[in-house]
Amino acid sequence: MKSSPWWKEATIYQIYPRSFFDSNGDGEGDLPGITSKLEYVKSLGVDAIWLSPFYTSPNKDGGYDVANPRDVDPRFGNLADAKRMIDIAHSLDLRVLVDIVPNHFSDQHVWFQEALKAGRGSKERARFHFYDANSDGTPPNNWISLFGGPSWTQVEDGQFYLHLFDSSQPDLNWDNPDVAEDFEKTLRFWLDLGADGFRIDVAHGLVKEDVLKDHPDPQGLSDALRLDMPMDPERRYALLPTVPYFDRQGVHEIYRKWRTIFDSYGSREVMAVAEAWVHPPVNATRYVRADELHQVFNFDLLDAAFEAEQLYGLMSAAIDLMKSVGSLPTWALSNHDSPRVASRIGDLQSRALALFVLALPGSCYVFAGQELGLPDGVIPDEARQDPIYFRTKGVQKGRDGARVPLPWKGETAPFGFTSGKPWLPLQEGWKDLTVEKQESDPKSTLNLYRNALNLRAEHLVNNGEVEWIDSPIHGSKSASLLAFKRGNVSIYMNLSDLPIEIEVNGKLLVVSGGIVDGRDGKVTIPPVSTIWLHH
Ligand code: NOJ
Repeated sequence: MKSSPWWKEATIYQIYPRSFFDSNGDGEGDLPGITSKLEYVKSLGVDAIWLSPFYTSPNKDGGYDVANPRDVDPRFGNLADAKRMIDIAHSLDLRVLVDIVPNHFSDQHVWFQEALKAGRGSKERARFHFYDANSDGTPPNNWISLFGGPSWTQVEDGQFYLHLFDSSQPDLNWDNPDVAEDFEKTLRFWLDLGADGFRIDVAHGLVKEDVLKDHPDPQGLSDALRLDMPMDPERRYALLPTVPYFDRQGVHEIYRKWRTIFDSYGSREVMAVAEAWVHPPVNATRYVRADELHQVFNFDLLDAAFEAEQLYGLMSAAIDLMKSVGSLPTWALSNHDSPRVASRIGDLQSRALALFVLALPGSCYVFAGQELGLPDGVIPDEARQDPIYFRTKGVQKGRDGARVPLPWKGETAPFGFTSGKPWLPLQEGWKDLTVEKQESDPKSTLNLYRNALNLRAEHLVNNGEVEWIDSPIHGSKSASLLAFKRGNVSIYMNLSDLPIEIEVNGKLLVVSGGIVDGRDGKVTIPPVSTIWLHH
């Protein structure tokens, strides 16, 4: 069953176009490659795809540096290819979300090139954040880029421009009406081509305050904003609300306006999901107010430990938070910006966690390759491409590991991904992880996802709230067991290395790993495994 509206409990498959499938042998995935694999995507049982950017771009930040948001970069094909991909997806009953990147353009965008030429004080510069240097020649403030190094770069005439990310990604000035107008044009452009909605990049970042003021602790703030930087939680929570460029009230005005555009497409049920890293967590609910966006990403599971108490805390908090505004949460275990879940918590653990999460209410985002249990690629430093690696002078390795192309078939790398040299190296050790191998193995991770998604549609979508059975605060039989009931299905996750016996009757629908022993009203859940039981 599908939820209504379609996105409410959808499973959305994230495709990183450069890494999905290469149709022309240049070593990079492309739109015709995606189109040729849509049957495969459909066979997973997902409802929609979200594509990371495929727009004209010098590709300094994996396409999140957009030089023309209303055209396709030649490395991915052309607009006709985009249209064909959308049409074929629709013919398979798959919706298509595209990425929109409103916080910044590429420095190769015509606006930025014009701004460089037009000089200080011009209307062209007013579309970005250009300011004079301080009297001692230093940048207008001390903010640190999220990719490392200063947030400011100086141009020939001495002015500086702001970039929260790479220096090739100048931030747009959303106080300037040209910017809003141009983005409205872009939204309509993709909707008119057939897209069903958007994933909004850095949705919390568009509006800046105090641009000419120094932050009292720029390094602390920069560390607090990084998931991979250990920090005393109290210090982190004290710093996060002081960020002057995220989650300002002004962003909501923008989304209210966008919502009227989405709604003007009526029965098409256009939706948008915000990439918004906000603190405190309750602020996330503002993005899904009735007259704003439809969903906001919940990133909590991207760095959560495989540990019952923590998972219970994060999951129940996300459910309760969204319930307080009549909404449902979203779930993601991996994406193109973070280590793949199989590498982060282990093979068996990631299968168990995925099966548990796929039963929760709300929308699940699955990053392409996750359904194969793909780990991060091992990248030699000389092959790295992520600006994070370069801007931090190698201190942070960056996100390339999660972006290694998918293995499709055969016994040796690049496993059918390309007939050329892949842009990032696939690992020889992945020969048992190919789609081809996994299709023929009923116990593969691929078949686990397929089964789970079918069963989810049959038994869980639209099927009510979570009723926690065993949890660290609901009288658990063991600190290693997490369980809930939803509709007619009970879901048990055994996080320990030992089997756990529970007293329960029910028919086994699916298990993430191992053999389930069930008789006389007792079921033994294998170690590090999740089961779904139907009652
Ligand atoms: C978030 C995107 O997911 C990431 O890949 C990108 O580098 C930044 N936003 C900047 O656009």
